Amino acid sequence: MGMKVLVIGSGAREHTIAQTLLRGESVDEVTAAPGNPGMRGDGILTTQLNPSNHAALIDFVKDNSYDWVIVGPEVPLIEGLVDDFADAGIPAFGPTKAAAQIEGSKDFAKQLMIRHNIPTAGYRTFDDLDQASRYVHDHGAPIVVKADGLAAGKGVTVAMDLDTAIAALDDIFIDHRFGNAGAKVVIEDYLEGQEFSLMSFVNGTDFWPMPISQDHKRAYDGDRGPNTGGMGAYSPVPQIGDDVVLAAIDSIVRPTVRAMADEGTPFTGILYAGLIATADGPRVIEFNARFGDPETEVVLPRLTSDLGQAIAAILHGEEPEFTWRTTGSTLAVVVASDGYPQNTVTGATVPPIPATEDDHVYYAGVATGTEGGLVSSSGRVAVLTVNDADIAHAQNRAYGILDRMEMPGLFYRHDIGSKALH
Ligand code: AMP
Ligand code: GLY
Repeated sequence: MGMKVLVIGSGAREHTIAQTLLRGESVDEVTAAPGNPGMRGDGILTTQLNPSNHAALIDFVKDNSYDWVIVGPEVPLIEGLVDDFADAGIPAFGPTKAAAQIEGSKDFAKQLMIRHNIPTAGYRTFDDLDQASRYVHDHGAPIVVKADGLAAGKGVTVAMDLDTAIAALDDIFIDHRFGNAGAKVVIEDYLEGQEFSLMSFVNGTDFWPMPISQDHKRAYDGDRGPNTGGMGAYSPVPQIGDDVVLAAIDSIVRPTVRAMADEGTPFTGILYAGLIATADGPRVIEFNARFGDPETEVVLPRLTSDLGQAIAAILHGEEPEFTWRTTGSTLAVVVASDGYPQNTVTGATVPPIPATEDDHVYYAGVATGTEGGLVSSSGRVAVLTVNDADIAHAQNRAYGILDRMEMPGLFYRHDIGSKALH
């Protein structure tokens, strides 16, 4: 009999994790907590449990004999869900609370990188508006202002001029736009180059890198508009050479895994490195302590081996195996609610997206409407992932599907993958 797995989370990332687990031979049953109704079409079960209610999750896992748990989103990791599962004797794939600080506190991550010579942008941390403003004035633009702590990818301002930088500081210190997350601010040097995401499976001491991908963080075409959780992605990223990826593995991933272990906070789970390929080599923009979203929606479809078997191996202290598609291109377009990320309007009908057999639709912020169909319930609603011969073909197919649809109340970017084409 195959394994039974519980996936914590409700987005398109968790839909992809769950569907990839079910694609493998070793896993028979996957439940997402709380999941979303769009997942059910793929045979994923859902249960209305809140990821913050650790006691209820532990009871549920025990009562229903799940073999293990994987935690998708950052918040429950940072709240110590993996530690609580471990204390209850339940194997859970993801970092401990102590290790998840690599995402939960930008200051923690920055100090770790400085101590271990891991290449990243120069920075200063402030908890006071006057000092922060003085530093910004002395330093000049461009400069990057980040709320410390979690702000769902929206706490970062890349300021090309001083006024924008000062306005970002005012937002954080005077208007408290990020609540507690803004009690401290990290001010970074601006880095120039193409971004890419390098995720690895990590078992505390060793790591297995995945194919790289590229996210599209701004809301609108041409990288305009506010930062979002991510509007689309593709993998692989042909304009980032293998030499750059190898340099990132050697100068960033390996020393980070070692540093976390050496400092007594070994990292197990998915280590996400958000990187910029600068003229001086790859530099870290951020670490995440989990699968990226929407990167997961283009990377896991390229996995040709059994995801559940590999994670179970890591949880049991054994060597995992991974094989990946080496040809073709995988591209994902996020469909979001109008107004996302600042003034999200929900309640729109989410029509079925007519994906072909090589493609997949992963659902995120959807609920069941009064007529039984899906309606939008938060910012990012659904993700269309297509596999094709190359990026141009994948782009044509994805937009061939989406552009023919009527989707009032929803929008998407029209240029996912274009950076790879010129
Ligand atoms: P983060 O939430 O730290 O990933 O930042 C969001 C986005 O801001 C990144 O994806 C980059 O596009 C941009 N960004 C962050 N830090 C820098 C930096 N030091 N230089 C240039 N762009 C940055
Ligand atoms: N796509 C960036 C993230 O998952 O934070």
